[in-house]
Amino acid sequence: MVGDLESKLFAVLFLLSTAQAGNTGRLSGHHCADFQTANILRGSKLKVQFLLFTSSSPSCGELILADDDIKKSSFNSSLETKIIIHGFRALGTKPSWIEGLVHAILHTSQVNVIAVDWVYGSTGAYPSAVENVTQLALSISQFISKLLALGVSGTSIHIIGVSLGAHVGGLVGHFHGGQLGRITGLDPAGPKYTRASPEERLDPGDALFVEAIHTDADNFGIRIPVGHIDYFVNGGKDQPGCPRFISAGYKYLICDHMRAVHLYVSALKHSCPILAFPCASHQDFLNGHCVDCVDPFLFSCPRIGLLEQAGVEMRKLPKEVKVYLMTSTSAPFCVHHSLVEFQLQTKRNVVTSIEITFCSNSTNDSAKITIPKLQVMGKQLLAHRVPLCQINSMTLKYLPKNKFWRKDESSIVGKFCAAQLPLDSNRTMSCLPWNITLPGNTNVSYELPATCA
Ligand SMILES: *[C@@H]1O[C@H](CO)[C@@H](O)[C@H](O)[C@H]1NC(C)=O
Ligand SMILES: *[C@@H]1O[C@H](CO)[C@@H](O)[C@H](O)[C@H]1NC(C)=O
Ligand SMILES: *[C@@H]1O[C@H](CO)[C@@H](O)[C@H](O)[C@H]1NC(C)=O
Ligand SMILES: *[C@@H]1O[C@H](CO)[C@@H](O)[C@H](O)[C@H]1NC(C)=O
Ligand SMILES: *[C@@H]1O[C@H](CO)[C@@H](O)[C@H](O)[C@H]1NC(C)=O
Ligand SMILES: *[C@@H]1O[C@H](CO)[C@@H](O)[C@H](O)[C@H]1NC(C)=O
Ligand SMILES: *[C@@H]1O[C@H](CO)[C@@H](O)[C@H](O)[C@H]1NC(C)=O
Repeated sequence: MVGDLESKLFAVLFLLSTAQAGNTGRLSGHHCADFQTANILRGSKLKVQFLLFTSSSPSCGELILADDDIKKSSFNSSLETKIIIHGFRALGTKPSWIEGLVHAILHTSQVNVIAVDWVYGSTGAYPSAVENVTQLALSISQFISKLLALGVSGTSIHIIGVSLGAHVGGLVGHFHGGQLGRITGLDPAGPKYTRASPEERLDPGDALFVEAIHTDADNFGIRIPVGHIDYFVNGGKDQPGCPRFISAGYKYLICDHMRAVHLYVSALKHSCPILAFPCASHQDFLNGHCVDCVDPFLFSCPRIGLLEQAGVEMRKLPKEVKVYLMTSTSAPFCVHHSLVEFQLQTKRNVVTSIEITFCSNSTNDSAKITIPKLQVMGKQLLAHRVPLCQINSMTLKYLPKNKFWRKDESSIVGKFCAAQLPLDSNRTMSCLPWNITLPGNTNVSYELPATCA
């Protein structure tokens, strides 16, 4: 049944997919190579192209022909190499995000960027694109072997694969015995891969460090962890700011899936750290049960971007660790997570809801604490777009549960505490003094001295 749904979605996607052929290769004296555009009727040869981008010409691709001498190109074998592999291209057009990703990488690091163009083999129907994956992986592997023959080290090679491209990257890594440096899967494709064996899909054995960013695990993305670290962004399924109704057309279908790419590009371009926290589930994370990275990351939280091993300082990486984070609705997506807690002075016979809002000069961000009945403690994560030190006031509002047959208490008394994640080893939190009284449906504001170090 799930397979049926997946095929249908891909069929709709195919029909709605809008042509986004970009022929923006800048002509400045010499010719810039660009992606090909395939026509579904002509997609009978794989015609893989390797386009090289460097810091000195981030907008102008240099075609490296399969039998060409790489030495003659501007490939610099003493630099690291990032290989970008796109996924299924319904209409055989150049991916619209390629340039943004290439620029973002070259903006942060001096590396060789190779964009793999396989639009010919990726077009038409999704299942035939999947059938071409092995052949594609073989030709990328051969290309990498040529780089290795030039003295490039395997560990300096980082494959960034989008959707189906993530599994292509996995196969390439598998062909190289898992000894390439790194593979990043941006919402690795789900259809036809969820039940595939680890050899057929991306898995932690495919490179020395494998990470995946999941943003559409209920549709086009895979729902199982496939790396050493798997980021489940906003739970990994539905992304804030993405349309929730089919009437939004193509955007509705593809927005969640493509969020992984936009989030990654943002993480490279902006300094705001996009940190994630290991947890058993997204619900546990939201409920404030996972507030640090002690286990298993020994106090270093993984960060989306290009830091070595995602900034995790450990010699032997665990596998398939699910890590969770929230984001805002639009770029740069980065939020800071704070644990907010309210402790009632006395137990109540009903559920207690309190809305907390963090206000800065430019943002208001809220969360709702729910205290179960007959308990005193409630906690929640609050995602705020500016760091805690820029929050200059805070509003608490008790939301009484008035039913027509019974009125809830008109006010509650308790203690409020907050701390930005990750919490330190002492779980230190900042608290308002005991006995704050919150009248029903009334904003109680506290000024906070906003002080950034
Ligand atoms: C991709 O696979 C399909 C199905 O096997 C095949 O018909 C097609 O020719 C392949 N395309 C390329 C470019 O190899
Ligand atoms: C290759 O990169 C290294 C390190 O940045 C640099 O020193 C060297 O000049 C570069 N070589 C060429 C040919 O640009
Ligand atoms: C935040 O909320 C307060 C209180 O409702 C309002 O006065 C203020 O304009 C809001 N600020 C922003 C940036 O939305
Ligand atoms: C917020 O606004 C106040 C008053 O205009 C200003 O003094 C303060 O520096 C601003 N804070 C930030 C973080 O921009
Ligand atoms: C934790 O508490 C101990 C004992 O009070 C203190 O010595 C230590 O500095 C604290 N650590 C942190 C990270 O605050
Ligand atoms: C709360 O206030 C009451 C009355 O002022 C006081 O007796 C009680 O000790 C306070 N509770 C705490 C935990 O501070
Ligand atoms: C209470 O605060 C919230 C969040 O700042 C704001 O949206 C709302 O308008 C405020 N309500 C009142 C009655 O001030």
